[in-house]
Amino acid sequence: MSAPKIAGQQGFYLLKQLQHFQSGTRGTAPGDAKGRQMAAMSKGPRLASSQALENLVAYVESFPDNKTVETVSGDTDRGKDLFVTCASCHGDKAQGLEMMAAPRLAGQNDWYLVAQLENFAAGKRGYAPGDHGGRQMKAMMAVLQSPEDYRDVVAYINTLTP
Ligand code: HEC
Repeated sequence: MSAPKIAGQQGFYLLKQLQHFQSGTRGTAPGDAKGRQMAAMSKGPRLASSQALENLVAYVESFPDNKTVETVSGDTDRGKDLFVTCASCHGDKAQGLEMMAAPRLAGQNDWYLVAQLENFAAGKRGYAPGDHGGRQMKAMMAVLQSPEDYRDVVAYINTLTP
C-alpha cells in the first residue's frame, strides 16, 4: 500500500502530519496521489478534534516497534558521509529531533525513505507555502544529487539503531 511504518515514529511528527493532511498542507501537490489518499483518510467526524488526534497518536505510540525488512542496498561508507548533513536535524542515530521538527528515520521501511526523498526532490512534498518542515527538507535535497545518493544514505540509515 506504499504506507510507512508508524510504530516507533515520534509522536510530535505523527500529530503534525495528521494536522497537515487535514489542513491541506500535505497531500495537495499535483501528482501526489498517495498523499491525496492519506489526506482523504485523515478527515471525518471521528478525527475532527485535536483531542481525537492526540488520542490516536498516543495509541500508535503504544505499538511495539518491530524491525522492518531491508530492501535497499548501497555504499554505506558514502552514505555515512552524506548523512553528516542530515544528522544536524534528524539526530546522529536518525532518531528524530523534535526541536528541529525532524522525524525519526531509523527503523523506517527503507523503500519508503527512498520514495520520500524522490517526493521532496519532485516537489510532491514541501509543496504548500505553510509547510515549513516540508519546505526545509525539500531544500535539503540539494545535498543528494542522484538516485545512487538516495540509496547510499538510506543504506547507511539502515545501520543505525537509536
Ligand atoms: C534543516 C533540517 C533538515 C536536514 C538537514 C535534513 N532534514 Fe530530512 N526532514 C526535515 C524535516 C523538518 C522533515 C519533516 C518534513 C515534513 O514535515 O513533511 C524531514 C523529513 C525527512 C524525510 C521524510 C520522513 C518521513 O517519515 O516521511 C526523509 C526521508 C528525510 N527527511 C531524510 C533526510 C536526509 C537523508 C537528509 C540528509 C541528506 C535530511 N533529511 C536532512 C529536516 C531536515
